[in-house]
Amino acid sequence: MKIGIFGGTFNPPHLGHLRAALYFQRSLSLDEVLIIPAGEAPLRDSPGFVSGGDRFALCEKTFPFPVSDMELRRPGVSYTIDTLRALREQYPAARLFLLIGEDQREKLHLWKDWREVLRLAELFVLPRNGAGPRAGEGIEGFTPLDISSTRLRLKLLLGEECTEFLSPEAIQYIEARRLYQPMKPKRQHHSRCVAEAAEMLALRYGGESAQRLSEKARLAALLHDCAKSMPFETQEALCARYGKSFTENEHSLPQVCHAFAGEAYLALECGVTDAAVLGAVRWHTLGHAGMTLLEEIVFVADLVSADRDYPDVEHVRALASRDLHAASQYILEYIFTKQRKKGKPIHPDSLAWYGELKETF
Ligand SMILES: [Fe+2]
Ligand SMILES: [Fe+2]
Repeated sequence: MKIGIFGGTFNPPHLGHLRAALYFQRSLSLDEVLIIPAGEAPLRDSPGFVSGGDRFALCEKTFPFPVSDMELRRPGVSYTIDTLRALREQYPAARLFLLIGEDQREKLHLWKDWREVLRLAELFVLPRNGAGPRAGEGIEGFTPLDISSTRLRLKLLLGEECTEFLSPEAIQYIEARRLYQPMKPKRQHHSRCVAEAAEMLALRYGGESAQRLSEKARLAALLHDCAKSMPFETQEALCARYGKSFTENEHSLPQVCHAFAGEAYLALECGVTDAAVLGAVRWHTLGHAGMTLLEEIVFVADLVSADRDYPDVEHVRALASRDLHAASQYILEYIFTKQRKKGKPIHPDSLAWYGELKETF
C-alpha cells in the first residue's frame, strides 16, 4: 500500500493545494492521500484568526481525500517526525510518501530529526506555486495555480471574488462563518465610505501621480480599520509579534492602538508589503511628524467619509476639499479638545504633527 502525506497549515486550503495533491496521487499511483492540517496557531479565537477546527472543515471541503486531525489533536508544535512515527505505527507495512515544496527541501537539514524523516518516508518534491518564473510549469501533467494562502487572506479581507482559487463549498463555509474577515459589517461599510473619500482626496491633491495615489489610498482606506474589532489583548499580541510594544501613553489611549495592530495584521497575516499603504494604516489615528500625502489623505478621509455625522462634519468636509492641511489641523484640534475633556493624554506623535502643521502652513 502506498500512502501519500500532504501536510500544511491550509489557512485556507485552496485549489492550488488540490492540484498538487491530485498530481502527487497520479504521479506515484498512491492508494491514498492523507491531508494533515498543522496544529493550532496562537490567537485562534480572535476575529481574523481561523481555528484548527475550521481549517479541518475547509480541508474536507477542498480535497477528495481523508483529512486527519492528528496534528490538531497533538498539543504544542507539530513536527513532521512525530506525524511520521505515528503513521508508521498505524501502517507498519505501507510505503509512506511525503509531499513537500522545493523551498522546504532546501531547509530539510533544519527539520527535527531529518535523517529519521528520510528513513520513514520517501520525499516527493513539488516546486512552490507562484515562486519565481511560474515554478512547476513544464512538469508533465502539473499546472501550478498562481495563488498563496497569504494572498487569499488579503483577497478575502478585501471582499474580493475568490471563485478561481477556492472550492465552492469552501467559499460557502468561509462566508457563512465570516472567516478571514475581522471587520463587522458596519465596520466594512465605514471602510468602503472612507475608501471613496480617500480616492476623491487623492485625485484632488495627487497632482501628476493622482491616479496611482488614489489606488493606494483606496487600498489603505479599505484596510485601515481591519484590527478595530479585535480585543485589545489580540491587538497587543499582534503588535508584539511585529516588534512594536505599546507605550504607557498608548495604553491610556487604547482606541488608537488598532492602527498599529492593523499594520501588524496586514504585514504578518495578509502579506502586505507596500510601506506606503502600511504607513497610512499605522498613522490613521494619531498622525506623526513628516506625514506623507497618502497618510494624511487616509487620516482626513476617515473623518469626512459619507457615514460620519458628528456636528461639524460638513465644515471639515468643506475644509478638506479646499485645503488638506487645514482639515488635518482642525481634526487634530477636535481630537485634542475631546481628549482633554476626558482627562486623557495627547499622544506625542499627534502633537509633533500638529506643531509641524502650525509652523509650516
Ligand atoms: Fe480607525
Ligand atoms: Fe475608521
